[in-house]
Amino acid sequence: MSDTGSVKGWPCAESVPIDPQGYDHPVSTVRETGRVGAAVRDEFPILASKAYLNACSQGALSHRVRAAYEEYLAGWDAHGAEWEHWVERAEAARTAFSRLLHASPAEVAVTTSVSQGMSGVVSALDLGARPRIVISDYEFPTVGQIAHAQALRGAEIVHVRPGEGGIIPIDAFEEAIDERTALVCCTTISYRTGHRQDVAAIAAIAHERGALVLADSYQAVGAITLDAPALGVDFVTGGTVKYLLASAGLGFLYVREGLLPDLLPTQTGWFADEDIFRMDISDYSPAADARRFDAGTPPVPNIYAGVAGMSLVEETGVAAIEAHVRELNSRLIDGVVELSGTVVTPNEPARRGPLVCIASLDVESLVRELAGEGIVVSSRDGNLRVAAHLYNVEEDVDRLLAALAARRHLLA
Ligand SMILES: Cc1ncc(COP(=O)(O)O)c(C=O)c1O
Repeated sequence: MSDTGSVKGWPCAESVPIDPQGYDHPVSTVRETGRVGAAVRDEFPILASKAYLNACSQGALSHRVRAAYEEYLAGWDAHGAEWEHWVERAEAARTAFSRLLHASPAEVAVTTSVSQGMSGVVSALDLGARPRIVISDYEFPTVGQIAHAQALRGAEIVHVRPGEGGIIPIDAFEEAIDERTALVCCTTISYRTGHRQDVAAIAAIAHERGALVLADSYQAVGAITLDAPALGVDFVTGGTVKYLLASAGLGFLYVREGLLPDLLPTQTGWFADEDIFRMDISDYSPAADARRFDAGTPPVPNIYAGVAGMSLVEETGVAAIEAHVRELNSRLIDGVVELSGTVVTPNEPARRGPLVCIASLDVESLVRELAGEGIVVSSRDGNLRVAAHLYNVEEDVDRLLAALAARRHLLA
């Protein structure tokens, strides 16, 4: 495949207009505006009535993403099956993911979920040679459950657990990773507590011992700079629901170029074939690049939405989003400390990302009461989860802090 996005076997893919709504950019011309907060709020209708601080669960819906869904439906109405265009959209998504990861499109598979990406990765492992899979205690359930499912193939699963302050010490990874280890899973940011792991340091240890490394970055992509090659990991996975401002049912898997072509997923499908339209059922001949981790028919409506959502993130610029959210989170953390509340997420900016978790004595009541005041947040493990994004402003944080002050009895 090329950077402009074409798939061998779709002869017309290049002839389809790539930019029907003017928000799809070739690799070199994404223009970052750095516009955050008040400057972008008009794009998100929900912000007219709510303090929406829930990007860790679902990013806010924008006019642009709604228009993308409508474009998909209008094209279907007007032309029936627009297969060439749909496939071109999937390639546009691959290219957008690759830009966000500072990688090449040839290193990115378009998936429906982290689950698909993780399943593809473990299906390619030789667990006979290296039976151990190491996972951090901060992995999302899908990563932990797929790892444990490999016990049926003879794998031994080892957990590394948090120590003081909820931080998983690098020493714990040192101890767990050995010459029998095939894969280390270290999520970039804990969905439960907001802790940010030192993925580059963990990758260095794993590689020293010949193990591969997967960083589930769903809680990071779109909100913090993620340079997959610079991190030194082998796989990065995530999706579009949260900080990429789009829909469920679209994700990505970055596969480090050097690993190809030796890594052969046995979880596969016809869109992973080297020549999709050969339609040959007599062998397994996967694509030479990371498309070998694609699977079946692409999730077309989600791809329309995903490309639109990612365009909003790219136009703002991830560095601007990261700086904006860091400031809002510092304001939030200072405010909670003033209330004598307990912030579970580390205060040190290098140890946190966009998600801040606050300990609560009755988090379900707290989330419900805040929702009653138009403040949308979520909960995990008894903690309140607050996740700001490019569209949030200081007033959102202050509104939340005032509501928490009025419910001090619900904070731990
Ligand atoms: C860290 C993390 N990984 C994975 C997922 C979801 O995985 P999947 O795309 O397989 O549903 C989520 C949230 O939904 C998440 O927060």
